[in-house]
Amino acid sequence: MIEDKKVIFSGIKPSGNLTLGNYIGALKNWTILQHEYNCLFCVVDMHAITVRQDPAELRKKSKELLKLYIACGLDPEKNIMYIQSQVPAHAELGWILNCYTYVGEMGRMTQYKEKKAKQNENTTVGLFDYPVLMAADILLYQTDLVPVGDDQKQHVEITRDIAMRFNNLYSETFKIPEVYIPPVGARIMGLQNPTAKMSKSDDDENDCILLLDPIDAIARKIKRAVTDTEKEIRYTKEKPGIKNLLDIYMSCTNMNVKDAEARFTNCGYGEFKQEVADAVVSTIRPIQEKYKEIDADKEYLDKILKQNAERASSIANRTLGKVKKKIGFVV
Ligand code: TRP
Repeated sequence: MIEDKKVIFSGIKPSGNLTLGNYIGALKNWTILQHEYNCLFCVVDMHAITVRQDPAELRKKSKELLKLYIACGLDPEKNIMYIQSQVPAHAELGWILNCYTYVGEMGRMTQYKEKKAKQNENTTVGLFDYPVLMAADILLYQTDLVPVGDDQKQHVEITRDIAMRFNNLYSETFKIPEVYIPPVGARIMGLQNPTAKMSKSDDDENDCILLLDPIDAIARKIKRAVTDTEKEIRYTKEKPGIKNLLDIYMSCTNMNVKDAEARFTNCGYGEFKQEVADAVVSTIRPIQEKYKEIDADKEYLDKILKQNAERASSIANRTLGKVKKKIGFVV
């Protein structure tokens, strides 16, 4: 890693499928960040097992996600891109930080409360403890900035609290990270329900576009997208379906609101949707082509996995070593 660059850490769980929303909201930004920062992009399989996973499926999805990171344009030589469970330091620091985190703090986490409300008695300790593992992920690499969506900001806050507590008890050990808010970037909503985020585990397959969707399915899903009974294509909160399609269009074409609206004056919804579909296909097709290439070369992926896990471990173990020494472990 280059010394004078700030460190960015982010991760995605390998559960469900990567959507166009994930691409526009996260990965596309990451491809920009990789030029300015020392970046670590993790496939957080240890976070995925906080709810039950099918083992074969999890293994497949973890590799698939890493391949998609590469296919989307993230460079595995420049960035450190790896699978969380292949770097044991995450689990080790996670345990240690558990002992510096209060039950009350975890109980206040909004995401936990929401997930628990849906699951009732089957909630695991892992789900409760999820933010501590996330804190370990971030703190192991002396991270400066964490690009995450709104739903994860509270977890970055608690990471800061845990880090400051540890630093105060011992001495300066962890860098205090901050949430990174991208300068631009739309939040892509569902095609069937444009008032809720496009989700990778949504049950309604027409609600989301997957990065690995067959090309013809993309146009079909966009044509079925919910709009409204007007005719006008305007970028406004009052027209969430049209606004979302415009956001998708602008993001895929790098166009601004003014130009996009101007382009579609006097254009019918049918024609508009066709243009949006074309723009999305032009974005996704090269990603799928690259994916196929990587997918055909098993040796390449194995090499990337091994090398990157080693690179991550060597940084993580430095922080972990300091922590162990400070708290009194025999090292
Ligand atoms: N909790 C994040 C999510 O659900 C994923 C994640 C795990 C993460 N560890 C992280 C994100 C560290 C940023 C930094 O989206």
